[in-house]
Amino acid sequence: MYIIGGTASKTVAEDLSKCLDVPLARTILKRFPDNELYVCITDDILGEDVIIVQTTYPDPNIVELFLLQDAVKEAGAKKIIVVIPYFGYGRQDKKFENGEPISAKAIAKLISLNADEIVTVDPHKEHILDFFSIPALSCSAVPELAKYMMNKNIDLVLAPDKGAFDRAKQASYIINCAFDYLEKNRIDGETIEIKPKNLDVNNKNVAIIDDIISTGGTMAKSIVELKKQGANKIFVACTHGLFAGEAIKHLSSTGCNEIISTDTIKSAFSKVKIAPSISHLIASKQV
Ligand code: R5P
Repeated sequence: MYIIGGTASKTVAEDLSKCLDVPLARTILKRFPDNELYVCITDDILGEDVIIVQTTYPDPNIVELFLLQDAVKEAGAKKIIVVIPYFGYGRQDKKFENGEPISAKAIAKLISLNADEIVTVDPHKEHILDFFSIPALSCSAVPELAKYMMNKNIDLVLAPDKGAFDRAKQASYIINCAFDYLEKNRIDGETIEIKPKNLDVNNKNVAIIDDIISTGGTMAKSIVELKKQGANKIFVACTHGLFAGEAIKHLSSTGCNEIISTDTIKSAFSKVKIAPSISHLIASKQV
C-alpha cells in the first residue's frame, strides 16, 4: 500500500503515513510554461492499494486530484482510495434556483470515475456522500476539536444554527458543559442575520462550533449577539477554515478570544490535526 499526498494535503498525507505505517509514494509535480500541471508517480505502484489525499479547494487542486487519480490508474494500482479532507463545493448540494448546477454532485461524479472508495471529513451535508457512485464514508473532526477545547473552561457550546446542533451537542458531551443553538437566517452568500435568542451566557465562556468558517460572517454576528448578552470569553471552532477575504480581521475585531480549525485546509489556525481521525476510520472500517 502507498499514500500519495496532493499539494493541498501534503501534511495530512505525511501524518496519515505515520498513523497507518504506510509509505508515501514519490511524485513529481510541476507546471508547464503555460501553467498546465504535470504529474508523475515515480514509485512502482503496480498491483498496490493507493490512498490519494487531496482537499478539493481551491479549484486547481481539483484538477490535480483528477490527474493524480488518472496517473495511479494508468500505473496499474489495484485499489484507489481517495481521501478528501475538505470537499469543496459541498454547500451547493442542491438547486436553490432553476438553472443552477448541483455542484457537489458534479464534482463527486467526476472523482468517482477513477476511484474505488472515498473518505471525507465533515461534509457540509451527509447526503453529499450519496453523490459519489462508489462507497463513500465520512469522519467527524468534532471529537478532536472538542478535546482541544477541554482545558479552556468552556461553560457552553453553541451551534450557529439549528442544522449544526448535533455538532455542538457532541462537543459539549466531550467538554462536559451545556449546549444550545442560535437562530441564523441566511440572506445571501455574504449576508446572514443571527436572531436574538435569550441564552444564559452572562459571564460565561462560550465556544461556537461549525463545519465551515468562510467569510466569518456567521461567527462574527454570533459573537456580537453573545457579547450583547454578557458572554465572557468566546472561542470559535470549525473543521474547515476557509477564512475568505477579511474573515480573520472580521473575527478579531468582534473580540473573539481564539480561532480554532483543523488542518483539512492548512492555515495559521490549524491547531487540530485531522489525520488521526481519518486513519482511525480507515483502520476500523478496513477501507
Ligand atoms: C453554512 O451552512 C455553514 O455551515 C457555515 O455556517 C457557513 O458556510 C459559514 O460561512 P461564513 O463564514 O461565510 O458565514
